[in-house]
Amino acid sequence: MTFQDQIRQGIPSQLPAPKPYDPTINHAPKRKEILSEDEKKLAVRNALRYFEPKHHKELAKEFLDELNTYGRIYMYRFRPDYKMYARPISEYPGNSEQAKAIMLMIQNNLDYAVAQHPHELITYGGNGAVFQNWAQYLLTMQYLSEMTDEQTLVMYSGHPMGLFPSHKEAPRVVVTNGMMIPNYSKPDDWEKFNALGVTQYGQMTAGSYMYIGPQGIVHGTTITVLNGGRKISKNGEGLEGKLFVTSGLGGMSGAQPKAGNIAGCITICAEVNPKAVQTRHSQGWVDEVISDLDQLTQRVLKAKESKEVVSIAYQGNVVEVWEHFAKENIYIDLGSDQTSLHNPWAGGYYPVGLSFEEANDMMANNPELFKLKVQESLKRQVDAINIHTARGTYFFDYGNAFLLEASRAGADIMAANGIDFKYPSYVQDIMGPMCFDFGFGPFRWVCASGKPEDLQKTDEIACQVLEEMMQNAPKEIQQQMADNIKWIKGAQQNKLVVGSQARILYADAEGRIKIAQAFNQAIAKGEIGYVVLGRDHHDVSGTDSPFRETSNIYDGSRFTADMAIHNVIGDSFRGATWVSIHNGGGVGWGEVINGGFGMVLDGSKDSARRLESMLFWDVNNGISRRSWARNEGAVFAIKRAMEAQPLLKVTLPNLVDDSVL
Ligand SMILES: NC(=O)c1ccc[n+]([C@@H]2O[C@H](COP(=O)([O-])OP(=O)(O)OC[C@H]3O[C@@H](n4cnc5c(N)ncnc54)[C@H](O)[C@@H]3O)[C@@H](O)[C@H]2O)c1
Repeated sequence: MTFQDQIRQGIPSQLPAPKPYDPTINHAPKRKEILSEDEKKLAVRNALRYFEPKHHKELAKEFLDELNTYGRIYMYRFRPDYKMYARPISEYPGNSEQAKAIMLMIQNNLDYAVAQHPHELITYGGNGAVFQNWAQYLLTMQYLSEMTDEQTLVMYSGHPMGLFPSHKEAPRVVVTNGMMIPNYSKPDDWEKFNALGVTQYGQMTAGSYMYIGPQGIVHGTTITVLNGGRKISKNGEGLEGKLFVTSGLGGMSGAQPKAGNIAGCITICAEVNPKAVQTRHSQGWVDEVISDLDQLTQRVLKAKESKEVVSIAYQGNVVEVWEHFAKENIYIDLGSDQTSLHNPWAGGYYPVGLSFEEANDMMANNPELFKLKVQESLKRQVDAINIHTARGTYFFDYGNAFLLEASRAGADIMAANGIDFKYPSYVQDIMGPMCFDFGFGPFRWVCASGKPEDLQKTDEIACQVLEEMMQNAPKEIQQQMADNIKWIKGAQQNKLVVGSQARILYADAEGRIKIAQAFNQAIAKGEIGYVVLGRDHHDVSGTDSPFRETSNIYDGSRFTADMAIHNVIGDSFRGATWVSIHNGGGVGWGEVINGGFGMVLDGSKDSARRLESMLFWDVNNGISRRSWARNEGAVFAIKRAMEAQPLLKVTLPNLVDDSVL
């Protein structure tokens, strides 16, 4: 059967042969056992809803086995035999070009080269799911292949509820993931309802079909390191010869040395897991590996002396680096940490003083002692960091719950007021005030033809647009634009494309609109094929997350989620091709409401109108909220937007003099 016929077929009426568990693939860990016997029956009954009764007997046993073995029912048998990757849009069957583009994006999220646990339909972050099981995948692809532009596909946490009549201007797909009644939104609730097959954790761009592999994280980390460098710059000097010390060479953290090289500093990244070190070193994401502290000291002194741009993996515990450099008086300019402290007791953080193997053994066999070791280690790490910051180091939390867990461990990390931490988070100090408040965020696009030449042309178009805008840009945003022009010029050389032909850059509303219009014109002229626009959820408007995206909101509203909900509603009636809204993403389920969109450009006048209307809202919604929270950059940005668009009229805050209160 051809690929197209397999897509059109959906769930096959003849059962495919069972598939053996493939040990060569990276699999999701077994999820914890959480269902009662009755609930297990309900989970199997739920799973069987996708199949004709004649298959129930055979499948019931198999699904129960999967539930008992893996903690979830993935329906491995139904995994398709064709290769999973983003094909050129022309290869998808269908009646709607928009729906075909969505199929391409879904397959990219499940590509073996892109996805973390492809057989469990997990794209990234350990549990960021596109679907809960393979029946949902098959049915969704079938619906997309048959739908027209007069229908909308409704997705409930991976489950395709069905096609509903709508109209050409409506989104083709509306996605929700992990939405819960707030009082039933605790970690064990989620585990249970996911095991029952009625909800899933969509992370940010996994369940919204907008993941583009490691490029996104490298770019975001580069912007963070560059701007961190500016914060510490005394006389406008750059990062040459300056030292950045951090940890982690894992999924996201592994981008740090690569970003450090692009930003132009000396990066030391400590990593306890030799496999992770080897992976990043063999990929060329980190230049050198050293496992001896004295050797590391000598190497750093040499690099400082010659202002060398170099990244070095220290194979060992990060606490050793902080302590040794304190003793040896090595000045650290920038410091952070990207161990997985959102998951401190099960392998996210390795305590100093134990070998990697000892730690793995202790966390499984003596979890209480392991917890104590983690806490002691965090206290030692913070003591050493405090010595460095007293000497002038700028330290920031990298959204990994370092400050939170260190405070819980009793480390000396609280500010004098006993409420705040001594150090800021990267969004509070860097991303928020320097990027999000001005509307700059992770705009991205995918060339639906799958041709590298198209990507190159779009890079050139985007660069040209930004360079033209730069000539008249106000000084407040000149730097942002210059950074992104530099990034896009080096983008081809950095070779970060994995999976679909995708690109990311940070742009504000005006930049996003102008770049998208230029793409649309190039499509109309036949210079490039269709383009899918989107963005990360880690952006100006789409995400309410009190300890990350909205951590620099100080009017008390950072614990509300009106902005994210308004964003998805507003995007959907302004022309998005698909929209999504998720409970959980990045910092964890229950901690964040985040949303995103996809928009297909086909070179038409309709596309031109939609992109203008939707992108303007998609950025300015968040700026208006940030401005209402009295954020200075956002007040500037929203006033500028009102000058450019007379139909925009936003409520501005009056500032209160301290003496009145
Ligand atoms: N990069 C970003 O922009 C970004 C943004 C927000 C949050 N984060 C957070 O950063 C954390 C890391 O993400 P990840 O995907 O890389 O996780 P990961 O688990 O893949 O990698 C973390 C690495 O840290 C290593 N490690 C743990 N303890 C160590 C220690 N004491 N010394 C040296 N190495 C140690 C682990 O071996 C592991 O390889 C997560 O908590 C994530 O939520 C990253």
